[in-house]
Amino acid sequence: MITMMRTILASTALLLLAGGGTLVTGCGGDAAKKPAADPAVVAEAKQVWESRCVTCHGPQGMGNGTNAKSLKTKPRSFKDGAWQKETTDERIKQVMIEGGGAVGLSVEMAANPDLKDKPAVVDELVAMVRSFAS
Ligand code: HEC
Repeated sequence: MITMMRTILASTALLLLAGGGTLVTGCGGDAAKKPAADPAVVAEAKQVWESRCVTCHGPQGMGNGTNAKSLKTKPRSFKDGAWQKETTDERIKQVMIEGGGAVGLSVEMAANPDLKDKPAVVDELVAMVRSFAS
């Protein structure tokens, strides 16, 4: 009898643990799929965005940076929901690292070859581009 009680108690504890775990990941939403981004990586991605991308793409990715007027091809607004849906993270990464020319877009979108060795920063930049969707 005591053994049975112990087993029941133990399995209740396990169930509680499992339940707790589910709750924690449940609250994380998307973050549950991958570990939270390293703050240093997030800071570096922000710094890259602000120093290299905003001039053309604008602070909110609307394609209205101070330099955009002088471009032959205007960058699209990253708020464009249809584009957000149809494009892939892989393509966004390729454009960022290899430049627009690599995927048949304007070469005014320059390559950033140094980002090739920083996949975590690139992932975070993709997340930033995705976050502009309205
Ligand atoms: C000199 C201006 C300029 C800078 C700086 C620049 N871009 Fe671009 N970018 C463009 C232009 C122009 C296009 C659109 C090319 C086209 O549609 O043919 C583009 C396109 C893109 C696209 C693809 C959008 C699509 O239509 O599929 C992404 C993603 C992107 N840029 C991200 C970035 C990021 C991230 C940075 C900073 C690392 C950056 N760009 C820096 C001008 C720039």
